[in-house]
Amino acid sequence: MSVREEIDNILSKDPAARNRLEVVLCYPGFHALMFHRIAHRLWKAGLVVPARVVSHISRMLTGIEIHPGAVIGRRFFIDHGMGVVIGETTVVGDDVVLYQGVTLGAGAAARKGAETRGKKRHPTLGNGVVVGSGAEIQGPIAIGDNVLIASGSIVLKDVPPDSIVVGVPGRVLYREGQRVGGVLPDIEAEAIKTLRAHVLRLEKKVAELAGAAEPAQPEPEPAPPEVPPSEIDEEGAVGMEAVDAFLHGAGI
Ligand SMILES: CC(C)(COP(=O)(O)OP(=O)(O)OC[C@H]1O[C@@H](n2cnc3c(N)ncnc32)[C@H](O)[C@@H]1OP(=O)(O)O)[C@@H](O)C(=O)NCCC(=O)NCCS
Repeated sequence: MSVREEIDNILSKDPAARNRLEVVLCYPGFHALMFHRIAHRLWKAGLVVPARVVSHISRMLTGIEIHPGAVIGRRFFIDHGMGVVIGETTVVGDDVVLYQGVTLGAGAAARKGAETRGKKRHPTLGNGVVVGSGAEIQGPIAIGDNVLIASGSIVLKDVPPDSIVVGVPGRVLYREGQRVGGVLPDIEAEAIKTLRAHVLRLEKKVAELAGAAEPAQPEPEPAPPEVPPSEIDEEGAVGMEAVDAFLHGAGI
């Protein structure tokens, strides 16, 4: 890694950058990377606290938090940078770009505390990965080479190379240039529709039971609307798959 290579990389990737001096003076992603190179060397030498101090100073100056243990490849560009968090066991390949607000986090392991110390908890990003602003990649998952992750996505599972991932939870929309995902499902709307159908079905059953218990009701309530047959399974129950998908998250 040479400093000049990192500067030229930023110049080539950011149309807003005009010359090397501007990059050196005004690019927090560049500053954070330089601090990280120092912090990571200290970390590898076993100087844990000095490494954390360097990382912390870098965070104060740039708004970018890179744990000194993270392994970062060549030509790494964090554009804008504020709010970026990169965890201890993250591995980042070459030619990776992150935008502001990206988290490369520990996912569920974060809740387990000291139990997971020293274990792989954070993602591994291949070469040429681009992660859009505000996206989250959580857990010890593998993001393949040349994957593009759309801004705002939350990625919880491995992603094959040469894919475009969008959504919450992240789904592969394109693979090797071919569309593989349909129109992105609105799982929230599907869950609400399923629950509504379920309530209608229960109301109908209750009305039937009430009718059987009190046959001489003078003015029976109007029957609730029919549940569309497509929403009722073979046993006559309303399928709850959409609710499960909404609550538990669907995979890629
Ligand atoms: C993911 C990304 C890299 C893909 O770029 P690309 O290859 O040029 O492809 P597109 O932008 O055309 O997006 C591909 C598809 O994903 C969809 N998509 C893109 N971003 C999305 C998002 N955040 N949420 C949902 N869908 C999204 C597009 O609508 C498009 O769908 P379509 O094919 O049905 O039209 C890009 O969309 C992106 O998000 N870049 C990050 C940008 C960013 O964070 N900029 C910050 C600058 S300050």
